[in-house]
Amino acid sequence: MEGSFPHVRPRRLRRTDVLRRMVRETTLSADHLVAPLFVTEEPASSDVASMPGVRRVTLDDLRTEARALAELGVPAVLLFGVPEHKDASGSGADAAEGIVQRAVRAIKHEAPGLLVITDVCLCEYTDHGHCGVLDARGLPDNDVTLERIARVAVSHAAAGADVVAPSGMMDGGVRAIRAALDAAGHLDVALMAYAVKYASAFYGPFRDAAAGAPAFGDRRTHQMDPANAREALREAALDVAEGADVLMVKPAVPYLDVVARLRRRHAGVPIAAYHVSGEYAMLKAAAAAGWLDERAAVLETLLSIRRAGADIVITYYAKDVARWLRQDGR
Ligand code: PBG
Repeated sequence: MEGSFPHVRPRRLRRTDVLRRMVRETTLSADHLVAPLFVTEEPASSDVASMPGVRRVTLDDLRTEARALAELGVPAVLLFGVPEHKDASGSGADAAEGIVQRAVRAIKHEAPGLLVITDVCLCEYTDHGHCGVLDARGLPDNDVTLERIARVAVSHAAAGADVVAPSGMMDGGVRAIRAALDAAGHLDVALMAYAVKYASAFYGPFRDAAAGAPAFGDRRTHQMDPANAREALREAALDVAEGADVLMVKPAVPYLDVVARLRRRHAGVPIAAYHVSGEYAMLKAAAAAGWLDERAAVLETLLSIRRAGADIVITYYAKDVARWLRQDGR
């Protein structure tokens, strides 16, 4: 009936900045942000052409970057390795002296307060670029891959990772990793599941950055069909039952309906959303052309992800946003 009363005027609460702040429903602060980082074994850091502002960094530059993020109040990083050597089983992924393992130790030494999350997948380490060990048909063999990613997660935990994030969408991945971590005594290492990861066109720039594009075929036999939302609920429920501590949805903005549905269905579980490389590249391109006010468009975008129900926002804009919010005194 509210709208039919002539004297109900919602605009009254929008009249001044103080009023608007008082009734604001959603906030965005640096506390919610995770910065993805690419660590390379190459001798020098390099730019990622399709992601202006993002670099593949050497271990030395990683140390500098980690300090800068910590000083700005970004609480966490998500690490991806870009190894020099690749083979059929992705053996570099769980090597004790692998690039991610060394990177975790470097960050923990340099910025001990920074939370380190590691991506657990084989695609950057396999010579065929697929997320698992291939079967006779050339598809990732689910159960053989589970043994591999469990080892990868344990090696990350042994290096000092706080959170591991399996991104391969293998069935039973969360259970296999939780069991392996527990058996190795890593009871405190948390598990952030890429519970709902779509087979998306928006990962294109990432595959440039991490050199992890499949050499043939695609990822549609394990990543989800963009048409499906009910199936997302099923994936999320399985991951919760298998022991996930955080549920992630990826990409973010094209799937805010899924974020909102998970938020309702799993009220007790933190939700993360990954604003992926293609989402970043679109904003960067429009801003570079002068078609969008970058700062305003980015803050609005990330706020929309929070409004949909995400507690945690993984974004290549993390450092910029932390700086902007600090300038604003927020
Ligand atoms: C797989 C992985 C991918 C991304 C994160 N982890 C690529 C893929 O599934 O093809 C994409 C992230 C992004 O686009 O920003 N290790």
